[in-house]
Amino acid sequence: MARVVRFHEHGGPEVLRIETVDAPPPGEGEVRIRVKALGLNRAEALLRAGTYIETPSLPSGLGLEAAGIVDRVGEGVEGFAPGDAVSIVPPISMIRWPAYGDQVSFPANLLVRHPPSLSFEAAAALWMSYLTAYGALIGIAQVAKGDFVAITAASSSVGLAAIQIANLVGATPIAITRTSAKKEALLQAGASHVVVSAEEDLEGRLKQITGAEGVRVVLDAIGGPIFEPLTAAMSRGGLLLEYGGLSAEPTPFPLFTALSKSLMLRGYLVHEITGNPVRLEAAKAFILAGLEKGLLRPVIARTFPFEEIVEAHRFLESNQQLGKIVVTV
Ligand SMILES: NC(=O)c1ccc[n+]([C@@H]2O[C@H](COP(=O)([O-])OP(=O)(O)OC[C@H]3O[C@@H](n4cnc5c(N)ncnc54)[C@H](OP(=O)(O)O)[C@@H]3O)[C@@H](O)[C@H]2O)c1
Repeated sequence: MARVVRFHEHGGPEVLRIETVDAPPPGEGEVRIRVKALGLNRAEALLRAGTYIETPSLPSGLGLEAAGIVDRVGEGVEGFAPGDAVSIVPPISMIRWPAYGDQVSFPANLLVRHPPSLSFEAAAALWMSYLTAYGALIGIAQVAKGDFVAITAASSSVGLAAIQIANLVGATPIAITRTSAKKEALLQAGASHVVVSAEEDLEGRLKQITGAEGVRVVLDAIGGPIFEPLTAAMSRGGLLLEYGGLSAEPTPFPLFTALSKSLMLRGYLVHEITGNPVRLEAAKAFILAGLEKGLLRPVIARTFPFEEIVEAHRFLESNQQLGKIVVTV
């Protein structure tokens, strides 16, 4: 039998239930793992609340990131055996392959042998944030030495991964956070500058930091009214990568700013990387090399035991975190 987290109705964290179900054997091309740690993502809170890009039939499982030990391999799987320590690249559908459980199966091509020096907790905090940040900053924007990169929701796990990746390639990461509560921690985490958007003039501060050059790349998870100051501070030909929708407010299209500076505004999902084997291999190689050199280091905000999954989701939505929330199993 397996213990899994499911919800039978949409709603707040309290709809999550730990249930005991049959642990099905892994299907063809799949591997079952005994989970040691789960990494939490905002997407899971959205699926639970019924506002995600995927619509589940109920009851539904959830979860996109796990690390653990291979327990059984399905037919046709080569290269993995029981006892291997692995972590999971987020699947395209968390409804089809939900991670929140103590025994879960995933397609074998999504398993990675993480470096033995990495704890299960850190391995569960790795792939979603670093693949998302890598795909945007390196895969699309080709950020390099000398670029200014503005990162909103910088205290999120993706934001912190983006700060580290920008530093790794010699760019200047500018972290944006709403209040000064996390300012010092963001500087400690590698941000060259921190702008507190609710307390400072965002456009003015970005222009002051970047001088005549402007921000070449914006990595934005928020949308909404922040679009105007962000785009106003961008360089000619700059690229804004939109990868989230944390703001509940409408997003204005900055028509004249976009026109006059030939800006590029582009939507982005990590599936562009995870769904393309060639790009995924390049991303994994970049991230594993960065880990090896100690230049990339997953930041864990707080760890909860599996039994406290409801509290873990409450903390996720409290926005107090700096980095990834991890659940140990
Ligand atoms: N496109 C993709 O493929 C992809 C992949 C992964 C994640 N995402 C998206 O990336 C975002 C971050 O995800 P995550 O799981 O790493 O982090 P998370 O833990 O959900 O991020 C939380 C941080 O975002 C900021 N924030 C929250 N609500 C906000 C709001 N209404 N307005 C402005 N800022 C807000 C807060 O920072 P401050 O309080 O410091 O401002 C908060 O600490 C989410 O929107 C998620 O859906 C997208």
